[in-house]
Amino acid sequence: MKNLVVAIDGPAGAGKSTVAQLAARKLGCTYIDTGAMYRAVAWKTLQRKQPVTDELILDVVKDVHVELAYVEGKTTVSVDGTDVTGEIRTPEVTAIVSQVAALGPVRSRMVELQRRMAAKGSVLMDGRDIATSVLPDANVKIFLTASIEERARRRFKEMQEKGYNVSLEELQKDIAARDKADSEREISPLVQAPDAELLDTSNMGIDEVVQAIIDRCSRV
Ligand code: DC
Repeated sequence: MKNLVVAIDGPAGAGKSTVAQLAARKLGCTYIDTGAMYRAVAWKTLQRKQPVTDELILDVVKDVHVELAYVEGKTTVSVDGTDVTGEIRTPEVTAIVSQVAALGPVRSRMVELQRRMAAKGSVLMDGRDIATSVLPDANVKIFLTASIEERARRRFKEMQEKGYNVSLEELQKDIAARDKADSEREISPLVQAPDAELLDTSNMGIDEVVQAIIDRCSRV
């Protein structure tokens, strides 16, 4: 049977990784969380403990070794052999990741890795530029979004569960800033591909969204 290639794009906090991980499992695809790869580069940049400049990020990306593993439905991320799965979700990493992801040499390295992983079999990949740039020939293209209020609420809950003390207002501001940075950057900005289906999850539960993705995949 032909490999299934599913591309899911959307803004921060739309719930992509949660639903994508579950849908990939049900579809028997490998899940590739491309945001985690940019976060891994951001994490390594912070390890230098220097002011974060484009020059520093470009120096870090020259020899960074990012690996994603998807085992038993769970993604783990490693940088130069160190497991950083938990550490790439901290507010410090989130604060600089849009700057990291806007740089051409960072993107070309990550996209090359992403395409190599996708060539191995059926995949479900999520990010910002999957349908438009990384995998333009994907069988299924979904643009997953939700209102900014709902996205901020979801992130708030997630951060609270992890024990971070953040305010809802601050989170909403951060998400709006990240939306702006990701949508307005020059290289591969966040945009709905003309042939992608819009899925607004503002009033949908996780299972409902997963089912909607599976329904779209069953039509190919
Ligand atoms: O989905 P996320 O929050 O983990 O993504 C982290 C950042 O990486 C986000 O600010 C945008 C960027 N990103 C990107 O530019 N391209 C992708 N394919 C995935 C993420």
